[in-house]
Amino acid sequence: MAPSVQDSCPSTPGKGKIERSSSHFGRVANRWQSPGSAHFFFWSFVLVGFMFYAVVHISPSGLHFMQHHSSTVRDLTWGGLLWEKQIEHSAHLKRETGLVVLVTGAAGFVGTHVSLALKRRGDGVVGIDNFNNYYDPSLKRSRQSLLEKQGVFVVEGDINDAVLLERLFSLIPFTHVVHLAAQAGVRYAMENPGSYVHSNIAGLVTLFEACKAANPQPAIVWASSSSVYGLNLKTPFSETDRTDQPASLYAATKKAGEEIAHTYNHIYGLSITGLRFFTVYGPWGRPDMAYFSFTKDILRGKPIDLYQGPNGIYPARDFTYIDDIVKGCLGSLDTAKKSTGSGGAKNGTAQLRVFNLGNTSPVPVPRLVNILEKYLRVKAIKNIMRMPKNGDVPFTHANISHARSEFGYNPTTDLSMGLKKFVKWYLTYYDTPLDRKFHD
Ligand SMILES: NC(=O)c1ccc[n+]([C@@H]2O[C@H](COP(=O)([O-])OP(=O)(O)OC[C@H]3O[C@@H](n4cnc5c(N)ncnc54)[C@H](O)[C@@H]3O)[C@@H](O)[C@H]2O)c1
Repeated sequence: MAPSVQDSCPSTPGKGKIERSSSHFGRVANRWQSPGSAHFFFWSFVLVGFMFYAVVHISPSGLHFMQHHSSTVRDLTWGGLLWEKQIEHSAHLKRETGLVVLVTGAAGFVGTHVSLALKRRGDGVVGIDNFNNYYDPSLKRSRQSLLEKQGVFVVEGDINDAVLLERLFSLIPFTHVVHLAAQAGVRYAMENPGSYVHSNIAGLVTLFEACKAANPQPAIVWASSSSVYGLNLKTPFSETDRTDQPASLYAATKKAGEEIAHTYNHIYGLSITGLRFFTVYGPWGRPDMAYFSFTKDILRGKPIDLYQGPNGIYPARDFTYIDDIVKGCLGSLDTAKKSTGSGGAKNGTAQLRVFNLGNTSPVPVPRLVNILEKYLRVKAIKNIMRMPKNGDVPFTHANISHARSEFGYNPTTDLSMGLKKFVKWYLTYYDTPLDRKFHD
C-alpha cells in the first residue's frame, strides 16, 4: 500500500525521536585516547547497537517497518516482538462469537468508554491514538492506564500512518473498526483549520484505504456528528433531512466524511455505518466542552459565558449521556453486515447506514448550569453575552426512530442523572473536596 501524503507529518506530536547515525558512534569511539578504554567503550556501543537491531528486526514485519522509517526510531518497542505480543494479547477473544475490533481515538472520551464496554463483554480490542494536545494529554494518559488495567492496549500512532495501519491489519484480522479518532470541537477550527483536514479528511481516507486492502475487510462504524444538520430549522433532526449547510469547518469535514464513506462503500464494498452523535457528556469527558469547563470555572469562582441568540433565546442541546452513546455504538456493531470486497474490488452491494444517536430532549444551556450549581453547591457567576458567529448552532434535537427500529436504541439517562455522575467523577478525579459531602 502506498504511504499517505500525510506521512511526512510527525504522527505523534511531541514524541522524542532518536537520530541514528553511524558517524556519531565513530566520533564517540575516537574521543577516547587510551587504547584500553577506547576498545572497551567502542565494543560496548557495538554490543548495544546489535541488541537494538535484533529487537527491531527479529520479525519480518519489524524489518518492513524499519525500512519505511529508516532515518528515525520512534520508540524502542515499536515493531518489536513485545509490541506485537501486546497487540495480540489485547485482540484476544473471551467469547466464542466475539468481535475483534480496532478502535481509533481509543484514548479519547468516547473511545475509552466504547473500548471498555467491548472488552467487558469478551470482544478483542486494540486501540490507536496519537495523544495530541488539543486538550490536556494527561487526561488521555489516565484513560490509557484505565484501558491497560482492563487489558486494552493502545498503539501510539496516527491514523494517517498507512504503514502502521497495514501492519496492524496484517497482525490481526479485525472483524470491525470503530473509528472515533478526529479533531473534535467547533470553535477550534477558526484557530487550527489544518488539524480538521489532517484527522477528519486525510486520516479518514488513509483508514478507509487500509480497511479496503485488509483481508478480510472489516465492517466500519464511525462517528459523524449532529453538526451536519447545520443551520436546519426543521426539528427534530432526521437522517433524511438536508445536510448541505454546515455552520462550521468541523461540520463540513464530518459531512465530507459521510460522502467519502459513500464512495468506499460503493466502489470497494466496505460495510459502513455513520453515527451522528448529539453532544455527548459524562465521566472522563472532554475538557473543551461547556459542561466540563463550566464545572471547572464554577468551582474556582470564575465567571462563565452564557450566550444568547436573537430575541434573547438561549441555545439548547440534546445532551446525550455517554452510556447511551456506547449502547448505540455496540448496537451498530452487532447489526453491521460484513463488507463484501476483497483484493480492492467489491463482490456485491454492501451495507451503508447513518443513525442519529441523541437523547431526544433538548435542554437550554442555563438549565444545565442550574443542575451543575445544585451538585457543586456553588452559584455560578454568569456573563450573559450575544452568541458569537463561531460555528455553534442554536439548537439540536435528535429523531432516533431509525436507530430504535434497527437495534432497539433507547437512551435512558436524563441530564440531571448524567450530570450527577459526571460531577461525582470530576470531584474524585481532580481531588476536589466540596464544603459538604456529595450524596449519591
Ligand atoms: N463528544 C461529542 O459530543 C461528540 C459529538 C459529535 C461527534 N463526536 C465525534 O465522536 C468522536 C469521538 O469524540 P470524543 O468526544 O471522544 O473526542 P476526543 O477528542 O476525546 O477523542 C478523539 C481522540 O482521537 C485522537 N486523535 C485525533 N486525531 C487523531 C489522529 N490523526 N490519529 C490518531 N488519533 C487521533 C485524539 O488524541 C483523541 O484522543 C469524534 O469523531 C468526534 O468528532 C463527538
